[in-house]
This record gives sequence, C-alpha cells and structure tokens, in this order.
Amino acid sequence: MANLKMEAVLAFVKENAIYGDPQSVLDTIDTYAMDGSLDQKRFLMNIGPEKGRILIDTIKKNKSKKILELGSFLGYSAVLIGMTIDDDGELISVDPDPNSIAIASQLVEFAGLSSKVSFIKGKAEHAINDLDRSFDLIFIDHEKKRYFPDLLLLESSGLVKKDTIIFADNVGLFKSDMTEYFKHVRDSNFYTSSNIGSKLEYRDSIYDAVEISVRIKD
Ligand SMILES: C[S@@+](CC[C@H](N)C(=O)[O-])C[C@H]1O[C@@H](n2cnc3c(N)ncnc32)[C@H](O)[C@@H]1O
Repeated sequence: MANLKMEAVLAFVKENAIYGDPQSVLDTIDTYAMDGSLDQKRFLMNIGPEKGRILIDTIKKNKSKKILELGSFLGYSAVLIGMTIDDDGELISVDPDPNSIAIASQLVEFAGLSSKVSFIKGKAEHAINDLDRSFDLIFIDHEKKRYFPDLLLLESSGLVKKDTIIFADNVGLFKSDMTEYFKHVRDSNFYTSSNIGSKLEYRDSIYDAVEISVRIKD
C-alpha cells in the first residue's frame, strides 16, 4: 500500500526542487519538514542538515568511495551521500520497506544520482549476508536495537576492514538502546570512536548524537 506521507514529499520535491540538483532536493525536503515543525505529521526521520553536515565532512575528510547505508527511508541521506562521493564512488542503500525503495529511487533519479546510488530491498541482516566485499564507510541508520547485532554481522561477513568508518545516527536520542553498541566500538580495542552531539533533525529542543568509529585492525 502506498505511503501517503512519502508520496506527498516526493510530489513536493517534484514541484519545488530543481531537477538534477541534489542540494535543491535536500533543501526542498528540509523546507517540507520545517514548515510543519509543530505538526508531528510533517516530521521526517531523515538525518537532516545538521547531522548531514557531519556525515558530508566525514566522507570528504576520508575520501570515502564505497559506502553502505542501512536504512534508506525517503532517500534523503542517499541523495546527500550520492552528491558527496566522487563520480567513481558508490552507495548501496538497504531498506525492507517497498515504499521506501520506490520513493528513494525516484528522489535519487530526480537528483541525477542514479549512476552512483543503488538500493537493495530487504532487511539489513539478509543484505549483509549477500554482500561479499568491504566498504570504506558504513552508515547505520535503521532499527535502533539492530545496530549492535548488525555491526557484529558486518564484521563477521567481511564488510568491515581496517580503516572502515562506521557512522551511526541517533545514538543520542536512542542512547538506552546503545549500551552494547557503545561498549563494542569504545572498549573492544578494534575501533577508535568519537561521539558528536547535535540536535534531532527538524527539532531544535531535542538532543541527538552520532557515533563515528574507525576500525583500527583487520
Ligand atoms: C531513520 S530511517 C532512515 C533515514 C535515512 N537514512 C535518512 O537519513 O534519510 C530508518 C529506516 O530503516 C528502515 N529499517 C527498519 N528495519 C530495518 C532493517 N532491519 N534493515 C534495514 N532497514 C531497516 C526503515 O524501513 C526506515 O526506512
């Protein structure tokens, strides 16, 4: 069944953004969400502009080319990552929701990024099992209780190598779900990890944070 909210965002983008201009697509989605900031129905669980800037800076600083994303939703972060990586870069984004895959694919196409961004429809745990190569950066932004088990799966499946960056969103808002995840990336001696506080997307009064963990051993 179609998701009316997602369809509304796509229609708003097609009407107001510039075709082939990824920044204009992101700004238009932000406008859609911010205009209704007091109306819960318009909240969108995108990474948003503030944490998105941290993700852009991390990709640029490390010249990350091969990126995996767990959790596509509308494709906001897929557009943000797609416009940041070089032309020979690649993003694979995974989501089990067929509505997400349909809308995100159209947004990426509208932004002119289809050659760099592809989607897998399925749960992260299944997609991880099917992938057989490592990534420079893995953006974890799906079901919060799955961050830790799916990181272990990413490791045991060979998708994480020395210098792979694990960038996890929403670890401030969902701190209570992150106990094992934090313990692993901070205390296992396999990563150096830093926590950067921010605001929740489109909500100035709600605290959130990202955790950026760099693998220091194969
Ligand atoms: C916070 S949203 C992703 C937002 C997106 N990364 C962005 O910033 O634009 C979370 C998404 O994770 C997806 N999801 C939930 N469980 C999942 C799983 N087991 N594997 C992959 N994705 C999952 C949901 O369908 C939802 O679209």
